[in-house]
Amino acid sequence: MQKDLMDKLVSLCKRRGFIFQSSEIYGGLASTWDYGPLGVELKNNLKKAWWKSNVYMRDDIEGLDASILMHPTTWHASGHVTSFEDTLVDCKECKKRFKTEHLREGRCPECGGAVTEARQFNLMLKTHLGSVEGEGNLTYLRPETAQGIFVNFQNVLNSMRRKLPFGIAQIGKAFRNEITTGNFTFRSREFEQMEIEYFVKPGSDEEAHGSWIDERFGWYAGLGIKKENLRKREHARDELAHYAKACTDIEYNFPFGWSELEGIANRTDFDLKQHMNLSSKDLQYFDDETKERFIPYVIEPSGGVDRSVLAFLTDAYSEEEVKGEKRVYLALHKDLAPVKAAVFPLLKKKGELVQAAKNIAGALREYFKIKYDDTASIGRLYRRQDEIGTPYCVTVDVDSLSDKKVTVRDRDTMKQDRVEIENIRAYLNDKLNT
Ligand code: GAP
Repeated sequence: MQKDLMDKLVSLCKRRGFIFQSSEIYGGLASTWDYGPLGVELKNNLKKAWWKSNVYMRDDIEGLDASILMHPTTWHASGHVTSFEDTLVDCKECKKRFKTEHLREGRCPECGGAVTEARQFNLMLKTHLGSVEGEGNLTYLRPETAQGIFVNFQNVLNSMRRKLPFGIAQIGKAFRNEITTGNFTFRSREFEQMEIEYFVKPGSDEEAHGSWIDERFGWYAGLGIKKENLRKREHARDELAHYAKACTDIEYNFPFGWSELEGIANRTDFDLKQHMNLSSKDLQYFDDETKERFIPYVIEPSGGVDRSVLAFLTDAYSEEEVKGEKRVYLALHKDLAPVKAAVFPLLKKKGELVQAAKNIAGALREYFKIKYDDTASIGRLYRRQDEIGTPYCVTVDVDSLSDKKVTVRDRDTMKQDRVEIENIRAYLNDKLNT
């Protein structure tokens, strides 16, 4: 059943323009994905919802957009050059590469062949800046967006006249040369993160950590993920990242099992201290009230855009039987739905209906993402919109020409309202912004 759900989702994503394999015409590139016309809308809506709830709705967070390429010393300071590694072996028979924990009785888990000695493999993607390749101009594509925030801590603190506690939020691409791939977009080599570094006075870090765990759990639930499909999982001491004192993951019950959606870590003063040591710049905070100078502690809620998109799609996928026929619909939260309303003429051969429907769609376009469609029967048009999660369908029929009203159908209840054409914008505004 669960495997079946994953297959259905992957197929729907491709067929309806949400997610395509990258470079598909060349046979694809492993673990990289392209977001199609509906996928990019969903992803943008998700990022907008995250930015709004963190940067606009709170008074203690500033936004940032740092570059992907950073000074190579950054990655020495952060510990990624030495610690961001997997222990791997190669199979001597099938030549595939595996993490040591995935071996079966010390042999290849796929073909049973003998394997090479284990070796450390760094997950960062290397690149060379400038025209000459060499160690001197080696740098990395960032494996996390977080470091762009740490190196800008003083810039944001000073330019925005901030006092502790405050946070810096950023959404952006990150790259990892992942070895364990598969499960669709779950573990990609190029992906997007939504990260906050929340700077606090040492001593108040544990309380802030607890509040952020609750806050982030509530965010997913508030956007419609079923509570029974979400859980918190505290990391055991031996699985903590090299920079963390504590970490709790928010996990989602994916079709392939409970897996991490977001990690909320207590990074202590590890990063700022490291950057202070390697840059020789003073990154301490001066507290004017107590006249103390110290390095802040950091709480880091770090989520993945792509994993969230996958979780929201999985959670929204619904099937039901209506009058003996299967109905598939995405019960996406209205803020996330890629298309907010679709407009159809009931009869595509009747020019006046087509024109009236086009006029309504045109007038609504300024306010919502609208789809006009007249390429199938009404039943089919509804099914198409259900499958991509469009909350409302507006149909113009023959009566509309005389009574100046249209039928609006609700995706989830399939109930229909008759609404005055001149009130349609207000009606949708009201429904979509509740
Ligand atoms: N700055 C902390 C950090 O990067 P992480 O747990 O390695 O922590 C944070 O990553 C989040 O980024 C994860 O919870 C996940 O949502 C997302 N993420 C990490 N690796 C990913 C990958 N290969 N593909 C897709 N998302 C990934």
